[in-house]
Amino acid sequence: MILYFSGTGNSRWVAMQLASLLEDKAHDITETLKDVTDSKIIWVFPIYSWGLPPVVKQFIRNQRLKFHPETVHHMVCTCGDDIGLAHEQWRKEIRKNHLGVAGDAFSVIMPNTYTLMKGFDVDTPEIKNQKLLAAPDRVKYVARQISSHQSHQEFIIDVTKGSWAWVKTHVIYPYFMRFCMSPKPFHATHDCVACGRCAKECPLQNIVMIDRQPKWGGNCTMCLRCYHTCPQHAVAYGKATRCKGQYLHP
Ligand SMILES: Cc1cc2nc3c(=O)[nH]c(=O)nc-3n(C[C@H](O)[C@H](O)[C@H](O)COP(=O)(O)O)c2cc1C
Repeated sequence: MILYFSGTGNSRWVAMQLASLLEDKAHDITETLKDVTDSKIIWVFPIYSWGLPPVVKQFIRNQRLKFHPETVHHMVCTCGDDIGLAHEQWRKEIRKNHLGVAGDAFSVIMPNTYTLMKGFDVDTPEIKNQKLLAAPDRVKYVARQISSHQSHQEFIIDVTKGSWAWVKTHVIYPYFMRFCMSPKPFHATHDCVACGRCAKECPLQNIVMIDRQPKWGGNCTMCLRCYHTCPQHAVAYGKATRCKGQYLHP
């Protein structure tokens, strides 16, 4: 069974590819799920600030699904560049919450979606296309590794950690989660035509339309689907998204 979360479609695409290659089923963790009987679970999700998206962490911690203690869990995360030590964070969460055995960990580089800070934007069309071209082979490789790996003693760690990995995950991630996760700066600009797409698309149903304007509640995981999905490019985050691009997995 594949359990996935995706803001802008990269991780959803990886989950669907893995499902087809491994003849497995992919389920979105924000939707209703039944109890699990599978002995192997593959978690697919994006990396947020070199760590786990809050929605994934909460899903693991709330133990909405019951797993057999011998269930083997694998992780396939997607990132724009590098993941720091997010795989160690994921392994710790799996073990600490008694979900079973934390197994292989892989990362897949995909187009970047983070636009909420100065200096951060979506990739140029050339880089985006290079990443999209390389991704299918990488996912095929990951699927082969997961399906051929038998030993429960040794697990594969095949991730792009990047430089300063410890600092990114252990210092920047907690800071980011504390100070950079507020949905308050989200607003609609004058270009908003009240189509309601942002509200309909929000995976956490955190956006409501009031007087033909979207309003953001407090339950936001910063996936940016609202920002990237707006057909008018009318979702803004304070001034940080001025002149920034949009991206959705094609
Ligand atoms: C809030 C946020 C933080 C991010 N942080 C990182 C990061 O630390 N490292 C990285 O390489 N990519 C980072 N990204 C980029 C995403 O991990 C990447 O684009 C991912 O494939 C998006 O997956 P999705 O389309 O399934 O949501 C971040 C994106 C967002 C929205």
